[in-house]
Formats: sequence, C-alpha cells, structure tokens
Amino acid sequence: MIEIIERAEVERILSEPSSRVPEAAVAAGTTASPMTRFRADVSRFVNGAEHEARRARLEALLDGLDPAALAAAAAAHARAGTCARDIPVAVLADALGFARADVLPSLVEVVAAAYPTGAAADPETADAAVTALLEASGAADPAEQVLRVQLLVQAHAATTTLVERALAPARSRGADAPTRALLESVLRDDSPVPVTRRLVPGLLEGGEMLVTLHLGGPDREATAERPARVLAFGAGPRACPAPHHALAIAAAIVETIRTDGAERRRDEETSPDADAR
Ligand code: HEM
Repeated sequence: MIEIIERAEVERILSEPSSRVPEAAVAAGTTASPMTRFRADVSRFVNGAEHEARRARLEALLDGLDPAALAAAAAAHARAGTCARDIPVAVLADALGFARADVLPSLVEVVAAAYPTGAAADPETADAAVTALLEASGAADPAEQVLRVQLLVQAHAATTTLVERALAPARSRGADAPTRALLESVLRDDSPVPVTRRLVPGLLEGGEMLVTLHLGGPDREATAERPARVLAFGAGPRACPAPHHALAIAAAIVETIRTDGAERRRDEETSPDADAR
C-alpha cells in the first residue's frame, strides 16, 4: 500500500472531492453481524450523498451538545477520580441521553478497537458490545441509535490518546505551559489519530488506489514563521466534526488533573513532616 507522509500532500488528498473512503457496505441479501452492520450504517465508511446525509445528522446532534457543559462534567468526573480513559465517553453518553452510563466506557473500548478495519480480536464480544450500545442509546429510530453510538466510538480512542499524551511526564512535568498549549503541541507533533485511508483516483491508470495518509508526518513547508500544518483532526469534507467538543473535554480533564497534582505537591511540601521524608 502507498504511504503518503508529507503534510501538504496529505492535506491536498483529504480535501480532494474525488478521494473516497473504503466502504463498509453489507452485500444485498446477506445477513451481517452486528459489528459489520454498524460499520456499514455509520458516516465514517460511506461516500457521496449518504455520507453527507449522515454527517449532517451527526452535526445536528453535536450542535445540541454544549462544549462548556461537557467540560464542566469532565472536570467533575476528573475531580471525583473517574479514570481519565473513561471520562470522554461518560460525559458524551450522559449528554446524549444514554442509559447504563457505568458500563458504557468498557463497551465502547471493545467496539472502538474493531471500528477502523472491522477486524475484532473476539468477534462475539464485539458484536455483543455493539448490540448493548445500540440498546442503551435511548433512541427509538435504528439509524439514530447508530449515529449516537458512532459519536461515542469516534470520540473514545482519539480523545483519551490526546489526554494521555498531554499528561505524559516528558511533556507536562514541571511545565508551566498552559493546558491549551500542551494540547496544541500534541496535535501538531504527536497526532492521536496517526493515519487514515483513502481511495485515490488517477494513481493507477483508470482505477483507484488505496493509500495510507499520515496525519503527523513532516511538513516541508514549515518554517520558523510558518508552523507545521495541523492535520490531527483530518482535513476537507470528512474532517472531524467535533474538534471544539474534543478540545473542551480534553482540556477540562488535563487541567483538573494537573491542578490537583500541583495542589497535592504543594500540600506535601508545606505539611509539617515534609522534612522528615
Ligand atoms: C468529542 C470527541 C470526538 C467526536 C464526537 C468525534 C467525532 C468524529 C466523527 C463523527 C467523525 C467522522 C466524520 C465523517 O464521517 O464525516 C470523526 C472523524 C475524525 N476525527 Fe473525530 N471525534 C472526536 C474527537 C477527535 C479527536 C480528539 C481527534 C484527534 C485529535 C479526532 C480526529 C478525527 C479525524 C482525524 C477524523 C477524520 C478521519 C478521516 O478523515 O478519515 N477526533 N470524528
């Protein structure tokens, strides 16, 4: 498979209307597993008018979610000691009206692992997780159930990776850098979603070729005055529709954990028996 790493070229291909995603359609007349059906029904693996229609419905759902309220809920979870990996799904699921909030992060983790390619380490567990999530979504219409679950699945790995990288000791140790600057440096230098794929016409005579596009590769046009392009949220008509939601949630988690850590260190330094340690 062809790998494209240069950011200008990756951005050009992502913005090109003729670039298509590999589809996850279910062949007519066949019965598909819940995971296969789910991938065929989300926006992520379909092209053309159907992609536009599903994406418009996702954007309407996202419009109903207030990033500031998501941030407040994420901060409250972080202060209460909820595992950082579980927080993005917990707050989005709550805001979208899901039931069974306590079990959702682990179900989403299972589905998210199989989501990019459809290959699951344990297909039965993945199918059961998809079914449980669709039931918990709180929507009556099956198409609406799928899109609500898609939002959780898309959010999970990308947002938790962004949070974990921003909190990594090498980046945040003793750093006075504002949380937003930490997040921006991860997005620019260490893209949480490393690659995506497209079918690109014209590379092969008369046909399409599957290419892997790196979102964190070199940007040869970057200079001291012109920082590297940020492609972490993708680019073009299929770019992530939720960067503001993602950044609000991630910033709230990272900021709360950094502040709590700094307060704990201050308390330890000023406690009466600090010298004895
Ligand atoms: C609240 C959190 C998030 C939600 C709800 C969300 C949702 C989505 C959805 C629905 C799509 C598919 C769009 C479509 O098919 O047209 C998408 C695409 C994408 N998301 Fe997000 N996302 C979130 C967080 C993130 C984060 C933190 C990153 C990375 C830093 C990210 C990176 C991407 C990328 C790169 C794509 C495009 C993939 C491609 O072009 O092939 N997302 N996101």
